[in-house]
Amino acid sequence: MSSTLHSTMGRTRKSLGGDFPLEAAPEKRRARLRMPSGSWAVSGRAALALILQKHLRRGRFSTIHVPALICQSVVDTIEESGISYAFYDVGKDLGPRPPDDPNGMLLLVHYFGTRTLVEPTAKWGHIIEDFSMAVPLLLSGLDNKHDAFSSLRKFGPVPLGGWLNTDVELTPNKMAEELEAQSVKARTAKAAYLAESDALVLPDMETGYLNLLARVESDISKLPNTSLLPALSRSLVEQTDWPRLAERRRKNWHHLTAQLQGEITMINPYADDDDKTVPLGLVIDLGNKRDAVRQGLRETRIFCPVHWPLPSQIIADQFPQAASFCAETLTIPLDQRYSQTDMEWVAEKLLRLTS
Ligand SMILES: Cc1ncc(COP(=O)(O)O)c(C=O)c1O
Repeated sequence: MSSTLHSTMGRTRKSLGGDFPLEAAPEKRRARLRMPSGSWAVSGRAALALILQKHLRRGRFSTIHVPALICQSVVDTIEESGISYAFYDVGKDLGPRPPDDPNGMLLLVHYFGTRTLVEPTAKWGHIIEDFSMAVPLLLSGLDNKHDAFSSLRKFGPVPLGGWLNTDVELTPNKMAEELEAQSVKARTAKAAYLAESDALVLPDMETGYLNLLARVESDISKLPNTSLLPALSRSLVEQTDWPRLAERRRKNWHHLTAQLQGEITMINPYADDDDKTVPLGLVIDLGNKRDAVRQGLRETRIFCPVHWPLPSQIIADQFPQAASFCAETLTIPLDQRYSQTDMEWVAEKLLRLTS
């Protein structure tokens, strides 16, 4: 008997975290969302690649400063573009600590749903803002002087999606449509399976949709950057009720942090008057117990991502704060799928594992 099968025997399907399931294909309804003007790409990395290509063509900036706390796919995109890049560290508050470079560009990431501000902008030649972890903030206005881009897949069940605030010519792509269809198939299978939350876990069924989702993730990088976002993904983004989603996430952020106050180190704790952040998750610092706690949570079917492993290009000693986030923090999901009771369930498991 495999260890996976053994550990899931007799368990019910109730779980928390992981990819968003898709209950049903969206109907043709009026869009709730008005994105600022720009272009709909297939992924955040494709959107960033298009922005970098624009700058390389113009030839004004040849370097970009990139935070060391970053997703590998972003670093790979920058490397593939051919632009020269240098890493900078972040502070304990996740604030950027880049060197001044009036001739270079700065990549600014709005971590975990909070707007990151830098002043004065004259310290850098140009700023590119990454809204992938803060998609809802795109709707509250952009700085027109900056480039902005986003992945659109982190806040809801959106199969593919990227966006940039530049008009570029994008063309429909067959492989993108096929990937979208595979993602929809996996997410609807997951929704049907989890709907019976009291039924027993069926490991083969879970492995089936998880493998399909993993294959889609790894194939996203193979899509041409100039592919247009297929219609279904775009309509899922446009039909999302972003104000409701924002409110649910803030409430969950509040419920979760109220339980953990004084017991767990929180990197982005809830602040009573914060009606601007739309949290992606609650980031907690578990020191050298991080991996053991993550595994313990996994065994109770609470699945928490790490944002992120240190990119392969980075030497940890040179970026100590980013390296410590990469080694010691965990992101607890608190999205719109969950209620106050779910947050109390997570907090109780977490406190038991850390006490
Ligand atoms: C901060 C950030 N920017 C950009 C991306 C790239 O987005 P995508 O996966 O849609 O290419 C990611 C991916 O996780 C990310 O976390």
